Amino acid sequence: MKEWLKDAVFYEIYPQSFYDTNGDGIGDIPGIIEKLDYIKELGCNALWINPCFDSPFKDAGYDVRDYKKVAPRYGTNEDLVRLFDTAHEKGIRVLLDLVPGHTSEEHEWFKASCQPEHNEYSDRFIWTNSCFTWGGGMPFIGGETERNGTYILNFFKCQPALNYGYGTCREPWQQPTDAPGPRATVEAIKDVMRFWLDKGCDGFRVDMAASLVKNDTKDKKYTCAIWREIAAMLAEEYPEAAMVSEWNEPKLSLKNGFDMDFMLEHPNSGYSWLMRNYDGATDSDPHNIGNCYFCADSDVGIAKFLDHWLPLYKATRKDGLYCPITCNHDTIRPSAGLTVDELKLAYAMLFTLPGAPFLYYGDEIGMRYLPLPTKEGGYFRTGSRTPMQWKKGKNLGFSKAKADKLYLPVDPAPDAPTVAAQEKDPDSLLNTVKSLLALRHARADLHADAPFKVLYAADPETDGQRPFAYKRGKLVCAVNPALDEAALPLNLRKGLKPLFALGGGGIKDGTLYLGAQSFVILG
Ligand code: NOJ
Repeated sequence: MKEWLKDAVFYEIYPQSFYDTNGDGIGDIPGIIEKLDYIKELGCNALWINPCFDSPFKDAGYDVRDYKKVAPRYGTNEDLVRLFDTAHEKGIRVLLDLVPGHTSEEHEWFKASCQPEHNEYSDRFIWTNSCFTWGGGMPFIGGETERNGTYILNFFKCQPALNYGYGTCREPWQQPTDAPGPRATVEAIKDVMRFWLDKGCDGFRVDMAASLVKNDTKDKKYTCAIWREIAAMLAEEYPEAAMVSEWNEPKLSLKNGFDMDFMLEHPNSGYSWLMRNYDGATDSDPHNIGNCYFCADSDVGIAKFLDHWLPLYKATRKDGLYCPITCNHDTIRPSAGLTVDELKLAYAMLFTLPGAPFLYYGDEIGMRYLPLPTKEGGYFRTGSRTPMQWKKGKNLGFSKAKADKLYLPVDPAPDAPTVAAQEKDPDSLLNTVKSLLALRHARADLHADAPFKVLYAADPETDGQRPFAYKRGKLVCAVNPALDEAALPLNLRKGLKPLFALGGGGIKDGTLYLGAQSFVILG
């Protein structure tokens, strides 16, 4: 494992919404540079920046028109290089968002691929051999191009799938992964990676990493082979560079070249049971987050999380990091379902689990999910993408633009949380995050790769309680999310002292007493 990942804490930045320095209502790269000290003081030492490349923004930049050009609304390539350099001076690494599965329909590669005459890019995307041959069960577009064929989509209509070939080729138009077209795609993506790595970026968050090869085997044999090849290129040419996959299948990702994979909120995933079990949500009421472990009045025990997470962690801990997230730009913010007290406990656990944590901008102050009309293909996700709330006053300190020019409106609530207000309050969520992360950095026992062991996992059905205790190295962490007190017969050794504590509690004769809604780290 790369040494720097052991102590890495990532901060995810949605660049549109972080900080606007030129008054156009949209966040920009100089804005990220200005806020690097804030990020550092918070305790984050690595960034994941959502796509900041030239794009028609039909999917908020995940529809890339030019992989090698910063979108003018965010600044220039020189600004991005300045961000790498300034971040490095402050000990912060920067991951860019790599979108290898598709481009925008406006990308030059795709425009050339649509031409009827054969050219260098004819096989860069996946085409059938006639306009009347459909996509073999995959989403496709036909009848739009001079080229006589239909093309496969990877996500939205604006995102044609790049051609990495087929695992199983049954039709004449399907290409094996070692055909010249798919091989050229792999080389083109490596070229994009080298372009930014040469300019100083530290690696990539990889969008839809599982999506490359179509009709792949169940264990994604062909897609995995491509990631191993790319990881080998990085190991040789950029040994410090890291990749984190959007996959949530650590047994595949971490064993096939990725340094990290992060948790996603799929139904029944460990993350969902901790933070947001959607059993109560419907399309018309997505806020109804239902019962999850950190809800004080829930009946969900820690087993729901452990059943999913623990086997994955155990099977992959030697291969890489399976990383906890507070949420991300595709999810509803955790504050929609958890109170500030509940969020404190949730973050305390997320930041003391193995793996490198990912903190989504604004979650550190409990920014709210706002029900808003869709913007740039966001749909329900738009409500988690609103401008960062720096301080009271105009646009909550995000931008000097007129309010109607903002990328998205700021939280209009009179009590909208802000950084400035929470900095002054020692008990704020922000200051809780800061103390947790400071402790995490100070104690190697809390680093990403330090050992983890379950000490106590109550089952609410039999114990009537829900506390959970675990060991990280020599430290003991324990949480009680419920409103009742709990006693954990842990037979703790003498002399353990709280290094961090929320809520009351104490140790007597080796038994750990936990107050209502409490978290303690003992060492
Ligand atoms: C996953 C990204 O996180 C999401 O925002 C995007 O819409 C899709 N991939 C398509 O790239």
